[in-house]
Amino acid sequence: MTEPRIDVLFDEDKIAARIDTIASEIAKADLQRLLIVPVLKGSFVFAADLLRALHKAGLKLEVDFLSLSSYREGTVSSGQVNIIRDIESEVADRSVILVDDILESGRTLAFAKDLIVARGAREVQTCVMLEKPGKRATDVNADYVGFECPDLFVVGYGMDMAHAYRELPFVGVVVTED
Ligand code: IMP
Ligand code: MG
Repeated sequence: MTEPRIDVLFDEDKIAARIDTIASEIAKADLQRLLIVPVLKGSFVFAADLLRALHKAGLKLEVDFLSLSSYREGTVSSGQVNIIRDIESEVADRSVILVDDILESGRTLAFAKDLIVARGAREVQTCVMLEKPGKRATDVNADYVGFECPDLFVVGYGMDMAHAYRELPFVGVVVTED
């Protein structure tokens, strides 16, 4: 089998510039005792860059990780969300920003948001690198969006296809030619 080609959709410079803009938007919001919660695994590269941009924008924050699974092998969502690893932090009366790679059906973020709201957070916002329009199965929306993403399966910058490609420094589309 030949290696698939990966076409660049959003390059490193474009992503970095967009993250700086999002960080300054977040810095303007009235956030108290801010806790950033990257939803793993796909968001880890985006979150790492976003955290440092938030620091540059003058924010003080804490970070904890929520690991959820909704995708199995391949590219089709199973529809069911499971907690693989929960956060350890208290969220009562805090402002929480959930960070995810892609908002597609919205099931992952809706699940995470309900979980944190139920624990008494003061406010729960959501920040996603990519949003695929027209795919929503829930009424969850993102407060901060990096880019609108075409309805293609994308990889890189933390996102995988069957565990591969997370290490790519850009967001790309897998092109299989046969
Ligand atoms: P949702 O629960 O349907 O909104 O799906 C969101 C999750 O599905 C994301 O956090 C990703 O982990 C995964 N996902 C959706 N589309 C893609 C894609 O194009 N590439 C890689 N992962 C994806
Ligand atoms: Mg994910």
